[in-house]
Amino acid sequence: MPARTPPPPHASAPASPPDRSESTRKARAPAKAEPKPAKATKKAAAKSAPGSAAKPAPKRAVSTGPGRFITFEGGEGAGKSTQVRRLLERLQGLGIDAVVTREPGGSTGAEIMRHLILSGAAKPLGPLAEAALFAAARADHLDATIRPALARGAWVVCDRFADSTRVYQGALGDVDPGLIAALEAVTVGDTRPDLTLILDLPAEVGLSRAAARSGSKADRFESEGLNFHRRLREAFRALAVREPERCVLIDAGAGVDTVAEAIWEAVSSRLKPPAPRRRKRR
Ligand SMILES: Nc1ncnc2c1ncn2[C@@H]1O[C@H](COP(=O)(O)OP(=O)(O)O)[C@@H](O)[C@H]1O
Ligand SMILES: [Mg+2]
Repeated sequence: MPARTPPPPHASAPASPPDRSESTRKARAPAKAEPKPAKATKKAAAKSAPGSAAKPAPKRAVSTGPGRFITFEGGEGAGKSTQVRRLLERLQGLGIDAVVTREPGGSTGAEIMRHLILSGAAKPLGPLAEAALFAAARADHLDATIRPALARGAWVVCDRFADSTRVYQGALGDVDPGLIAALEAVTVGDTRPDLTLILDLPAEVGLSRAAARSGSKADRFESEGLNFHRRLREAFRALAVREPERCVLIDAGAGVDTVAEAIWEAVSSRLKPPAPRRRKRR
Protein backbone atom coordinates (compact mmCIF):
# COMPACT_ATOMS: atom_id res chain seq x y z
CA MET A 1 0.00 0.00 0.00
CA PRO A 2 1.65 3.28 -1.01
CA ALA A 3 2.11 5.80 1.78
CA ARG A 4 1.32 8.74 -0.46
CA THR A 5 -2.13 9.42 -1.85
CA PRO A 6 -1.98 9.85 -5.64
CA PRO A 7 -3.44 13.06 -7.01
CA PRO A 8 -7.04 13.10 -8.18
CA PRO A 9 -7.38 12.04 -11.84
CA HIS A 10 -9.66 14.94 -12.75
CA ALA A 11 -9.58 17.40 -9.92
CA SER A 12 -11.33 20.31 -11.58
CA ALA A 13 -12.72 19.40 -14.97
CA PRO A 14 -15.52 21.92 -15.47
CA ALA A 15 -18.98 20.81 -16.42
CA SER A 16 -22.20 22.66 -17.10
CA PRO A 17 -24.57 23.19 -14.18
CA PRO A 18 -27.15 20.42 -14.09
CA ASP A 19 -30.49 20.74 -15.77
CA ARG A 20 -32.68 18.74 -13.44
CA SER A 21 -35.59 17.07 -15.17
CA GLU A 22 -39.21 17.73 -14.31
CA SER A 23 -39.80 14.21 -13.07
CA THR A 24 -36.99 14.58 -10.54
CA ARG A 25 -38.48 17.78 -9.27
CA LYS A 26 -41.97 16.39 -8.82
CA ALA A 27 -41.96 15.46 -5.18
CA ARG A 28 -44.23 14.04 -2.59
CA ALA A 29 -45.05 16.23 0.36
CA PRO A 30 -42.35 16.17 3.05
CA ALA A 31 -42.87 14.00 6.11
CA LYS A 32 -44.36 15.89 9.05
CA ALA A 33 -41.38 15.33 11.31
CA GLU A 34 -38.10 16.50 9.84
CA PRO A 35 -35.20 14.12 10.40
CA LYS A 36 -32.53 15.26 12.81
CA PRO A 37 -29.68 15.74 10.36
CA ALA A 38 -31.69 17.14 7.47
CA LYS A 39 -31.73 20.75 8.44
CA ALA A 40 -29.99 23.86 7.34
CA THR A 41 -30.01 25.81 10.54
CA LYS A 42 -27.54 28.13 12.22
CA LYS A 43 -27.02 25.38 14.77
CA ALA A 44 -25.91 22.94 12.07
CA ALA A 45 -23.61 25.54 10.56
CA ALA A 46 -22.16 26.37 13.96
CA LYS A 47 -21.31 22.72 14.58
CA SER A 48 -18.41 23.07 12.22
CA ALA A 49 -15.07 21.34 11.91
CA PRO A 50 -12.22 22.12 14.27
CA GLY A 51 -10.49 25.34 13.42
CA SER A 52 -13.32 26.78 11.37
CA ALA A 53 -15.03 30.03 12.21
CA ALA A 54 -18.79 29.53 12.09
CA LYS A 55 -20.46 32.33 10.14
CA PRO A 56 -24.05 33.31 10.81
CA ALA A 57 -26.43 32.01 8.17
CA PRO A 58 -27.96 34.72 6.00
CA LYS A 59 -31.51 35.73 6.87
CA ARG A 60 -32.99 34.91 3.47
CA ALA A 61 -31.71 32.30 1.06
CA VAL A 62 -31.39 33.12 -2.64
CA SER A 63 -33.54 31.29 -5.12
CA THR A 64 -30.97 29.47 -7.23
CA GLY A 65 -33.27 27.80 -9.73
CA PRO A 66 -33.08 24.05 -9.87
CA GLY A 67 -31.65 22.44 -6.77
CA ARG A 68 -28.29 20.70 -6.86
CA PHE A 69 -27.55 17.35 -5.33
CA ILE A 70 -24.08 16.74 -3.91
CA THR A 71 -23.00 13.50 -2.22
CA PHE A 72 -19.92 12.67 -0.16
CA GLU A 73 -18.45 9.19 -0.26
CA GLY A 74 -15.34 7.44 1.03
CA GLY A 75 -14.08 5.22 3.81
CA GLU A 76 -14.54 5.49 7.55
CA GLY A 77 -12.82 8.51 9.12
CA ALA A 78 -12.05 10.10 5.74
CA GLY A 79 -13.64 13.36 6.92
CA LYS A 80 -17.02 13.19 5.15
CA SER A 81 -19.13 14.50 8.03
CA THR A 82 -16.57 17.22 8.76
CA GLN A 83 -16.53 18.39 5.15
CA VAL A 84 -20.32 18.18 4.73
CA ARG A 85 -20.61 20.76 7.52
CA ARG A 86 -17.91 22.93 5.99
CA LEU A 87 -19.63 22.91 2.61
CA LEU A 88 -22.97 23.77 4.22
CA GLU A 89 -21.40 26.83 5.86
CA ARG A 90 -19.87 27.92 2.59
CA LEU A 91 -23.11 27.56 0.63
CA GLN A 92 -25.09 29.35 3.32
CA GLY A 93 -22.47 32.09 3.34
CA LEU A 94 -23.45 32.74 -0.28
CA GLY A 95 -27.10 32.95 0.73
CA ILE A 96 -27.93 29.60 -0.86
CA ASP A 97 -30.78 27.51 0.57
CA ALA A 98 -28.81 24.38 1.53
CA VAL A 99 -29.82 21.23 3.37
CA VAL A 100 -27.55 18.65 4.97
CA THR A 101 -28.60 15.06 5.27
CA ARG A 102 -27.06 11.60 5.64
CA GLU A 103 -27.34 7.90 4.92
CA PRO A 104 -28.36 5.55 6.24
CA GLY A 105 -31.06 7.84 7.62
CA GLY A 106 -32.07 11.37 6.71
CA SER A 107 -35.82 10.88 7.25
CA THR A 108 -37.89 9.65 10.18
CA GLY A 109 -38.35 6.15 8.75
CA ALA A 110 -34.81 5.81 7.48
CA GLU A 111 -33.31 6.90 10.80
CA ILE A 112 -35.09 3.94 12.43
CA MET A 113 -33.49 1.67 9.81
CA ARG A 114 -30.11 3.35 10.40
CA HIS A 115 -30.08 1.94 13.89
CA LEU A 116 -30.96 -1.53 12.63
CA ILE A 117 -28.14 -1.45 10.06
CA LEU A 118 -25.33 0.26 11.99
CA SER A 119 -25.91 -1.60 15.26
CA GLY A 120 -25.00 -4.78 13.38
CA ALA A 121 -28.43 -6.32 14.12
CA ALA A 122 -28.96 -7.03 10.41
CA LYS A 123 -25.41 -8.33 9.76
CA PRO A 124 -26.31 -12.02 10.30
CA LEU A 125 -28.86 -11.72 7.47
CA GLY A 126 -26.01 -11.09 5.03
CA PRO A 127 -25.10 -8.39 2.47
CA LEU A 128 -28.15 -9.02 0.26
CA ALA A 129 -30.54 -8.27 3.13
CA GLU A 130 -28.43 -5.27 4.11
CA ALA A 131 -28.61 -3.97 0.52
CA ALA A 132 -32.41 -4.34 0.62
CA LEU A 133 -32.57 -2.49 3.94
CA PHE A 134 -30.42 0.33 2.58
CA ALA A 135 -32.69 0.52 -0.47
CA ALA A 136 -35.84 0.75 1.68
CA ALA A 137 -34.26 3.45 3.84
CA ARG A 138 -33.07 5.33 0.72
CA ALA A 139 -36.53 5.29 -0.86
CA ASP A 140 -38.00 6.98 2.23
CA HIS A 141 -35.10 9.42 2.49
CA LEU A 142 -35.54 10.48 -1.14
CA ASP A 143 -39.31 10.91 -0.86
CA ALA A 144 -39.41 12.64 2.51
CA THR A 145 -36.27 14.77 2.40
CA ILE A 146 -34.19 14.93 -0.78
CA ARG A 147 -36.81 15.37 -3.53
CA PRO A 148 -38.87 17.99 -1.65
CA ALA A 149 -35.70 20.03 -0.99
CA LEU A 150 -34.55 19.82 -4.63
CA ALA A 151 -38.05 20.70 -5.81
CA ARG A 152 -37.98 23.99 -3.89
CA GLY A 153 -34.56 24.80 -5.39
CA ALA A 154 -32.40 23.94 -2.37
CA TRP A 155 -28.94 22.45 -2.58
CA VAL A 156 -28.83 19.04 -0.89
CA VAL A 157 -25.55 17.86 0.60
CA CYS A 158 -25.70 14.20 1.57
CA ASP A 159 -23.22 12.28 3.74
CA ARG A 160 -23.05 8.92 1.85
CA PHE A 161 -25.59 7.79 -0.76
CA ALA A 162 -26.12 5.01 -3.31
CA ASP A 163 -22.40 4.63 -4.12
CA SER A 164 -21.87 3.30 -0.60
CA THR A 165 -24.31 0.47 -1.36
CA ARG A 166 -22.50 -0.24 -4.64
CA VAL A 167 -19.20 -0.44 -2.79
CA TYR A 168 -20.03 -2.00 0.60
CA GLN A 169 -22.71 -4.51 -0.42
CA GLY A 170 -21.78 -4.76 -4.12
CA ALA A 171 -17.99 -4.70 -4.53
CA LEU A 172 -17.21 -5.98 -1.01
CA GLY A 173 -20.34 -7.93 -0.11
CA ASP A 174 -20.50 -9.71 -3.46
CA VAL A 175 -24.15 -8.90 -4.04
CA ASP A 176 -24.91 -9.34 -7.75
CA PRO A 177 -24.17 -6.00 -9.52
CA GLY A 178 -27.38 -6.43 -11.57
CA LEU A 179 -29.39 -6.56 -8.38
CA ILE A 180 -27.61 -3.53 -6.91
CA ALA A 181 -28.33 -1.63 -10.15
CA ALA A 182 -31.98 -2.71 -10.10
CA LEU A 183 -32.42 -1.55 -6.49
CA GLU A 184 -30.79 1.75 -7.40
CA ALA A 185 -33.05 2.19 -10.42
CA VAL A 186 -36.24 1.79 -8.39
CA THR A 187 -35.12 3.90 -5.44
CA VAL A 188 -32.93 6.65 -6.92
CA GLY A 189 -34.47 6.75 -10.41
CA ASP A 190 -33.37 9.99 -12.00
CA THR A 191 -32.58 11.72 -8.69
CA ARG A 192 -28.91 11.05 -9.29
CA PRO A 193 -26.26 13.24 -7.66
CA ASP A 194 -24.98 16.12 -9.78
CA LEU A 195 -21.60 15.80 -8.07
CA THR A 196 -20.05 13.11 -5.89
CA LEU A 197 -16.98 13.96 -3.83
CA ILE A 198 -15.01 10.83 -2.96
CA LEU A 199 -12.70 11.47 -0.02
CA ASP A 200 -9.64 9.31 -0.50
CA LEU A 201 -7.34 8.29 2.34
CA PRO A 202 -5.22 5.24 3.26
CA ALA A 203 -7.40 2.87 5.27
CA GLU A 204 -5.03 2.91 8.26
CA VAL A 205 -5.25 6.69 8.56
CA GLY A 206 -9.04 6.72 8.26
CA LEU A 207 -9.47 4.00 10.86
CA SER A 208 -7.17 5.71 13.33
CA ARG A 209 -9.06 8.99 12.83
CA ALA A 210 -12.36 7.17 13.34
CA ALA A 211 -11.03 5.45 16.49
CA ALA A 212 -9.86 8.78 17.90
CA ARG A 213 -13.18 10.48 17.14
CA SER A 214 -14.47 11.61 20.50
CA GLY A 215 -17.37 9.67 21.96
CA SER A 216 -17.73 7.23 19.07
CA LYS A 217 -17.94 3.45 19.29
CA ALA A 218 -17.01 1.38 16.21
CA ASP A 219 -20.18 0.65 14.22
CA ARG A 220 -21.10 -2.35 12.04
CA PHE A 221 -18.72 -1.33 9.22
CA GLU A 222 -15.97 0.41 11.19
CA SER A 223 -15.38 -2.83 13.07
CA GLU A 224 -14.47 -4.75 9.90
CA GLY A 225 -10.75 -5.58 9.49
CA LEU A 226 -8.03 -3.56 7.78
CA ASN A 227 -8.17 -5.64 4.60
CA PHE A 228 -11.89 -4.83 4.21
CA HIS A 229 -11.13 -1.11 4.48
CA ARG A 230 -8.25 -1.34 1.99
CA ARG A 231 -10.54 -3.01 -0.54
CA LEU A 232 -13.17 -0.39 0.20
CA ARG A 233 -10.75 2.38 -0.69
CA GLU A 234 -9.82 0.69 -3.94
CA ALA A 235 -13.50 0.24 -4.86
CA PHE A 236 -14.19 3.95 -4.30
CA ARG A 237 -11.13 4.89 -6.36
CA ALA A 238 -12.31 2.63 -9.17
CA LEU A 239 -15.71 4.32 -9.08
CA ALA A 240 -14.06 7.75 -9.51
CA VAL A 241 -12.25 6.44 -12.59
CA ARG A 242 -15.43 4.88 -14.04
CA GLU A 243 -17.62 7.97 -13.64
CA PRO A 244 -15.43 11.05 -14.05
CA GLU A 245 -18.33 13.29 -15.16
CA ARG A 246 -20.01 12.87 -11.78
CA CYS A 247 -17.21 11.95 -9.36
CA VAL A 248 -14.20 13.88 -8.12
CA LEU A 249 -11.54 12.13 -6.06
CA ILE A 250 -10.35 14.38 -3.24
CA ASP A 251 -7.07 13.82 -1.39
CA ALA A 252 -8.41 13.65 2.17
CA GLY A 253 -4.98 13.28 3.79
CA ALA A 254 -4.38 17.02 4.01
CA GLY A 255 -5.62 19.30 6.79
CA VAL A 256 -9.32 20.15 7.14
CA ASP A 257 -8.94 23.59 5.52
CA THR A 258 -6.96 22.27 2.54
CA VAL A 259 -9.49 19.50 1.93
CA ALA A 260 -12.34 22.03 2.20
CA GLU A 261 -10.65 24.21 -0.45
CA ALA A 262 -10.23 21.27 -2.84
CA ILE A 263 -13.91 20.46 -2.36
CA TRP A 264 -14.93 24.06 -2.96
CA GLU A 265 -12.85 24.14 -6.15
CA ALA A 266 -14.76 21.09 -7.44
CA VAL A 267 -18.17 22.42 -6.36
CA SER A 268 -17.67 25.92 -7.72
CA SER A 269 -16.15 24.85 -11.04
CA ARG A 270 -18.73 22.16 -11.76
CA LEU A 271 -21.95 23.50 -10.25
CA LYS A 272 -21.44 27.26 -10.62
CA PRO A 273 -23.03 28.60 -7.43
CA PRO A 274 -24.50 32.10 -7.70
CA ALA A 275 -22.29 35.04 -6.71
CA PRO A 276 -22.97 36.49 -3.25
CA ARG A 277 -25.63 39.18 -3.26
CA ARG A 278 -24.54 42.79 -2.77
CA ARG A 279 -26.32 44.84 -0.13
CA LYS A 280 -28.53 47.54 -1.59
CA ARG A 281 -27.51 51.10 -0.75
CA ARG A 282 -30.10 53.13 1.05
N1 LIG B 1 -8.44 16.54 7.21
C1 LIG B 1 -8.43 16.04 8.44
N2 LIG B 1 -7.26 15.90 9.11
C2 LIG B 1 -7.25 15.37 10.35
N3 LIG B 1 -8.33 14.97 11.04
C3 LIG B 1 -9.53 15.08 10.43
C4 LIG B 1 -9.64 15.61 9.10
N4 LIG B 1 -10.95 15.60 8.75
C5 LIG B 1 -11.63 15.07 9.79
N5 LIG B 1 -10.79 14.78 10.80
C6 LIG B 1 -11.13 14.17 12.09
O1 LIG B 1 -11.19 12.76 11.85
C7 LIG B 1 -12.30 12.20 12.53
C8 LIG B 1 -13.22 11.56 11.49
O2 LIG B 1 -13.81 12.59 10.69
P1 LIG B 1 -15.32 12.45 10.18
O3 LIG B 1 -15.64 13.74 9.49
O4 LIG B 1 -16.18 12.02 11.30
O5 LIG B 1 -15.12 11.26 9.12
P2 LIG B 1 -16.21 10.37 8.39
O6 LIG B 1 -17.52 11.07 8.48
O7 LIG B 1 -15.69 10.26 6.99
O8 LIG B 1 -16.19 9.03 9.06
C9 LIG B 1 -12.97 13.33 13.31
O9 LIG B 1 -12.49 13.29 14.64
C10 LIG B 1 -12.50 14.57 12.59
O10 LIG B 1 -12.44 15.69 13.44
MG1 LIG C 1 -19.35 10.47 9.28
